[in-house]
Amino acid sequence: MSDTPPPKVRLDTTRLQKIAQAYWESAALMAAVELDVFTAIARGHDTIATLATAAGLTERNAERLLTALVAMTLLERSGPGKDARFSNTPDVQRFLVKDSDRYAGPWILFTKPRWAAYGELSRRLRDPGEKRLGAYTEFTVDDARRYHAATYSIGTGAARLFSRSVDLTGRKLLLDLGGGSGAYSIVATQTYPGLKAIVLDLPPVTVVANEYIAANKAQDRVSTLAGDFTTTPFPAGADVVVMASNLPQYEPALIRLVVGKAFAALVPGGEMHLIGETLHDDRRGPLSAALWGLNEAVFGSTGLAHTESEVKSYLQDAGFTDVAVHPFVPGVLSRIAGRKPA
Ligand SMILES: C[S@@+](CC[C@H](N)C(=O)[O-])C[C@H]1O[C@@H](n2cnc3c(N)ncnc32)[C@H](O)[C@@H]1O
Repeated sequence: MSDTPPPKVRLDTTRLQKIAQAYWESAALMAAVELDVFTAIARGHDTIATLATAAGLTERNAERLLTALVAMTLLERSGPGKDARFSNTPDVQRFLVKDSDRYAGPWILFTKPRWAAYGELSRRLRDPGEKRLGAYTEFTVDDARRYHAATYSIGTGAARLFSRSVDLTGRKLLLDLGGGSGAYSIVATQTYPGLKAIVLDLPPVTVVANEYIAANKAQDRVSTLAGDFTTTPFPAGADVVVMASNLPQYEPALIRLVVGKAFAALVPGGEMHLIGETLHDDRRGPLSAALWGLNEAVFGSTGLAHTESEVKSYLQDAGFTDVAVHPFVPGVLSRIAGRKPA
């Protein structure tokens, strides 16, 4: 046996540079959404010259942006020359064209108001100035309207997935904690006749939730309760409690508090579902959960990313049984559910 040393790995900076410049890609995508580039292409403005006119760009800048979007695999290009035609890739066509019923442009722009704050992340990490409600301190109705245009554009898809994956037949009252636009409640009560729902959210958000409830003609099935789910008493009679997309915004003690309140308020045999970005138990990922946790440093909240096992323990310690983790949107969201003993 020879003692040949293993081949040396040649290190370079490619990976590090790609991460350092990733925000250029975010900016290109957000600009394309703001300029309605994908919608224009879908409507036939699919050359550099016609896209430039439709989006109000110079031809040079249209060419720059289209070339970047092709390299980002958001567009296909038919040839190398000036008369090349461009087309949207399938996910872009479905979610980033305004004529689609699944248009999610507001969700792509959802985090853009944090852009400048991310530029000073290192300072914010050193100087947390922590507050319990993080992003929601000083939220106005207009903030809530913009915020939930984004969550609604993506949340209805998640809400449909929830109503497909959880059988709520025979359930009477769903309490939707931090229900935002009311997407989960609107879809669940549409899917399960006889089910009613209460969306509990902060006062400015319930104003906006009522607008979505009215737009969906769901006033007879879905109502709102303005409050703070950490302090407002929960209504009696719920047999389902859902808390979706709130996990990383709160530290463990506060999630435990809310889960305990939900357990006490649920009728015997009722169920609770926590849906959110969770870390694997080895805390090595997924990246999205880790970044949502880091995002809380930008807001100066006490929130952080929780692991699946931690979330299970919040439910178990409150008294829930049959606690299990269910993949929800694989790699992004999990659903952790438990049942209050009958
Ligand atoms: C990311 S949004 C998710 C909305 C909705 N659950 C969905 O998945 O579409 C989080 C929501 O939780 C609400 N929220 C956060 N903290 C809250 C609190 N302490 N009391 C009530 N609502 C809260 C926010 O106002 C916001 O509407």
